Amino acid sequence: MLRFLTAGESHGKALLAILEGMPAGLKVEAGQINQELKRRQAGFGRGRRMQIEKDEAQILSGLRKGITLGSPIAFLIENKDFSIEKLLKVTCPRPGHADLAGLLKYGFTDVRNVLERASARETASRVGIGAICKIFLKEFNIRIISKVLSIGGEFTSEAMKNKILEAKDNKDTVGGIFEVVAKGLPCGLGSYVQPDRRLDARLAENIMSIPGIKAIEIGLGLGYAVSFGSEVHDVIYYNKNKRLLAGRQGYFRKTNNAGGIEGGISNGEDIIIRACMKPISTLLKPLDSVNIATLKPTKAVVERSDTCVLEAAGVIAESGVALVLADAFLEKFGADNLLDIKKAYQDYQKRIK
Ligand SMILES: Cc1cc2nc3c(=O)[nH]c(=O)nc-3n(C[C@H](O)[C@H](O)[C@H](O)COP(=O)(O)O)c2cc1C
Repeated sequence: MLRFLTAGESHGKALLAILEGMPAGLKVEAGQINQELKRRQAGFGRGRRMQIEKDEAQILSGLRKGITLGSPIAFLIENKDFSIEKLLKVTCPRPGHADLAGLLKYGFTDVRNVLERASARETASRVGIGAICKIFLKEFNIRIISKVLSIGGEFTSEAMKNKILEAKDNKDTVGGIFEVVAKGLPCGLGSYVQPDRRLDARLAENIMSIPGIKAIEIGLGLGYAVSFGSEVHDVIYYNKNKRLLAGRQGYFRKTNNAGGIEGGISNGEDIIIRACMKPISTLLKPLDSVNIATLKPTKAVVERSDTCVLEAAGVIAESGVALVLADAFLEKFGADNLLDIKKAYQDYQKRIK
């Protein structure tokens, strides 16, 4: 239902995005998009580039008087650091980045031709797209939040902060784990009828596409591997009374190890996703590499870089989750017009009550 494309190099003139499939009749303000872009730029451990940039979306199409037309929504985010033509050639690829594999794949002799697009600067476009999807989902009281759970094996906020400072002092970088939770979802998004319609698979694909993400789990995730079925499956209850029981009417669960998805379908509980981000690959104390011009041992290039971006990664993942859920929602309740979708949603809720 929803399709998108992004374009733009890290130090190019601008980043671009086109989102197609948003229904007509949704009120969208650039300020709402900018708020999310600002969240992506923040977080303890970010480098100097984020002090230079001030990401703001200029909406180019898809709206009239602030309301969506059902046509593709295009927007642009200008790069303040527009310097791509002046930047020097890079010949020392960084271990852990796209540099060497991209260079060999595309036949370049300058690593910069790879890193300009492989850079996670691209994710600003995705966050803008996700912001529009969040605005749509909010019409149905669906909210998506994220938080950092651990950094470098530390769990308290003070210890996490210290770990980032330690990495910074050592000219090193550090990774961690964040969690994304989607609340207020109906049962019935996604399907088991084809592999590519499974909601868990679609969420995993989107989150794994964020640069630096190396693992994801839904609900209990890896914890299932060390449990008996009797201990972990979320037992089903039904509350016949109109009065709320355990916060619920109708069917309900007391646990949510499934992370809100069973059989590739949302089951009405919160969707809970955790993902692991590896340490940033650009180190100020660079790792060993090979000069691609001389084939002699060298140190990897040092680019201006972040130390730790777990908070930002969580915001980017929220955007991905918003896109996937909005897509599945439109599939289930129709597209084209917001009022039609609301009507279909209400009818469905009445049926499954
Ligand atoms: C928000 C964000 C910011 C990032 N900043 C940097 C950075 O400053 N330097 C760097 O080397 N990698 C950075 N990365 C990670 C690289 O983009 C990523 O490791 C690289 O594209 C290779 O992809 P892979 O790690 O998925 O293999 C960042 C990732 C995210 C999500």
